[in-house]
Amino acid sequence: MEYSFHEESQRVLVADDEKVIREILSDFLTMEGFVVRTVEDGFEALQELEEHSYNLVITDLKMPRMGGIELLEEINNRGINVLTVFMTGFGTVETAIEAMKKGAYDYILKPFKVEEVIHIVQRGLEKQQLQQENIQLREALSIYTMSEVLTKTLLLDHVLEIIVSTTLKESRADVAALLLMEDKDSGFEVKLRRSNAEEEEDQETEDLNLVEILEHYREDRPVLYHGARANRFFNRLPGGQQLVSFISVPLKIRLKIVGMLNIYSYSRGKKFSEGQRKMLSILADRASSAIDNARLYQNLQETFQQTIQGFARAMEANDLYTHGHSDRVMQYSRLIAHGLHFDPEHVQRLCTAALMHDIGKIGIPLDALKKPQKLTKEEYELFKEHPDKGRRILEPIEFLKDIVPAVYHHHEQYDGTGYPLGLREEEIPVEARILAVADTYDAMTSDRAYRAALSHEIAVAELKRCAGTQFDPRIVAVFIIEMEKARDNESDKSIPHLESGNRTEAEEET
Ligand SMILES: [Fe+2]
Ligand SMILES: [Fe+2]
Repeated sequence: MEYSFHEESQRVLVADDEKVIREILSDFLTMEGFVVRTVEDGFEALQELEEHSYNLVITDLKMPRMGGIELLEEINNRGINVLTVFMTGFGTVETAIEAMKKGAYDYILKPFKVEEVIHIVQRGLEKQQLQQENIQLREALSIYTMSEVLTKTLLLDHVLEIIVSTTLKESRADVAALLLMEDKDSGFEVKLRRSNAEEEEDQETEDLNLVEILEHYREDRPVLYHGARANRFFNRLPGGQQLVSFISVPLKIRLKIVGMLNIYSYSRGKKFSEGQRKMLSILADRASSAIDNARLYQNLQETFQQTIQGFARAMEANDLYTHGHSDRVMQYSRLIAHGLHFDPEHVQRLCTAALMHDIGKIGIPLDALKKPQKLTKEEYELFKEHPDKGRRILEPIEFLKDIVPAVYHHHEQYDGTGYPLGLREEEIPVEARILAVADTYDAMTSDRAYRAALSHEIAVAELKRCAGTQFDPRIVAVFIIEMEKARDNESDKSIPHLESGNRTEAEEET
């Protein structure tokens, strides 16, 4: 990837109201290989700097309309990235020093020797290059770091978060936003927008003129604009704010534009550079392939999830009593996972495990599980094999390796009296400890062949009674808190079985 800024000649702007000085400097600097333009005062200089990029400006202190100091202040205010060198007569050295304090690079005393001017210009530009290369190195490093992080996740939301937060941090923009096109018929949608400022939740955001941006993309014209010239890319800006600088780069997957990455500056003097636009382009390239991967993976996951749900439902379909059991265990498990602040990937893994936890029952004669009386000792021994059968079904499937421990150990008990291995406390994988609580709660609050459903209150009392023996007490506590929250929030339709039953006996065949 090309990071070089010096493929083109260095550009120098000379601002002086004296024609002869303009001509001398122009001639000599041109001979040295610089591209030189001259203007007559600060006002013209500012216009020129707004329209074209320069590496260095040599300016006289006193000029009509706008003098050197005012020009320097405007350069600072507008965030124009250019070195400033002053020319001054002997009597105004103090003013020149004042200018240095305001950020001027150096000053030249009139009358000057041409070699001296050339020396100052060259030294300044070398220093500028060094600084710029430093920035590029730092940016290259952050792109590298981001790419590394991106390879470690396949969750789309997580990928988007990494991209936008890296963009915001590295560009030092006020706002970074990522837009994606969901499918070819729908438009672009803002997927994530992050701001450095504290914003009200319902604050309006940028309303983009997508037609204009897409036209630039198609014609391969960079979208890097400042001030009023950026306005054409917007239908509306948030709350009458004045945009200072704007960059937009496309996200492309297999040559198709699928989204865009935008940064906004609303701070006076904070103007983006061409270097930043290049940096953002590289970042967008990495981002696009990460988004592509995450989407493919998400599709695969969704298809896969549906297959599993299909499995679980098919398994329960013939049995009136366990109908919907896996779905409900998944919902209760998800509540607990949120209460324990699991990250999204972990929640997902737990949910899959919940859906599959009893998959091993496939290998057990159904009749034994559906009878109205309690199981005989032999039948119970057979029943107890289902976690191990589950393990053996899932283990060969690469996708499902991660959930095997949860499925295999979901009948372990906290005090070590469970099966299949009799693990205790923290030896039992946390996912399995969660499943145990969710599973038993659902078994208690569902009708079974041998008894009617128990009420929520009774089931909770039973969980509390067995906290520390059968169950991890911390997980019981979290479950009860989360269930109370969910029950208080009556609109939460995702929580099944809140109706009360009226029997008083718990059962463990879950
Ligand atoms: Fe179960
Ligand atoms: Fe089970």
